[in-house]
Amino acid sequence: MINYKNRNLPIGVFDSGVGGLTVVRALHKFLPNESIIYLGDTARVPYGNKSPKTIQQYSRNIAKFLAKKGVKLIVIACNTASAFAFKAVIDAVNVPVIDVISPVSRAIARLNTKHILVLGTHGTVQSAAYITQLRALRNDLTIVQQACPLFVPLVEEGWITGEIPEKIAEKYLNKIANTQSVILGCTHYPLLANVIEKTLSKNSKNILLFDSGEHAALEVKKTLQQLDICSSNKQAITRYLVTDSPESFIKTANIFIKEKIQHIQHIELTK
Ligand code: DGL
Repeated sequence: MINYKNRNLPIGVFDSGVGGLTVVRALHKFLPNESIIYLGDTARVPYGNKSPKTIQQYSRNIAKFLAKKGVKLIVIACNTASAFAFKAVIDAVNVPVIDVISPVSRAIARLNTKHILVLGTHGTVQSAAYITQLRALRNDLTIVQQACPLFVPLVEEGWITGEIPEKIAEKYLNKIANTQSVILGCTHYPLLANVIEKTLSKNSKNILLFDSGEHAALEVKKTLQQLDICSSNKQAITRYLVTDSPESFIKTANIFIKEKIQHIQHIELTK
């Protein structure tokens, strides 16, 4: 583990593209004094339908890149990368690594709800990473999973309310009944929270929705406090690095966060 000399070092956050901004949004909310380097792998998005081996290779590569930039902690904001590459990233760097799957799983296991629904990409669902985590914590849960791949382009198109997302949500979710805790296990899904809740409420009562990114941000806060490396920088800056065009990132980013993207740069990831 690194010997931290400077608590104002940035946090490194990475995602397959723009979706990890839901995690940045939560980090800004809970840790306003922390500077962030966000890497969106927009040249290779989506990760949701790629093989575990490819995602591990991409994630390792990005984590090493961020570590070289001097980050004090790395957040894997992408659920699919968290599902397939958490260990690979931990092994690749010598700073603490937070994923988006473990923190929300621990939060749900503490509740007395029993019927859990996991929504995610094909990759996240196939990995069964949420099931593995939840089962390790509680053996009395019934866990249903549903991949909702069309939610990603829908959100990036800005279609987050109205008839179109509702019809698609209906198609994916209409057979699901009596669920209690719903994990929004993909970076994009929190933007469809209202649509998802409305659809599921037809067959389930008092549903609780969980944003995996928010729980990851809270875990980051806890870890920084435990290590005593919280920043007190009142002028914290978020820098964005993207592997494809900054212009198209900025355009889609507006759907995810209100803040203006000021510091953005295109980068090449070398192997
Ligand atoms: N960021 C991905 C996730 O949370 C969704 C987009 C993608 O498929 O790359 O799983």
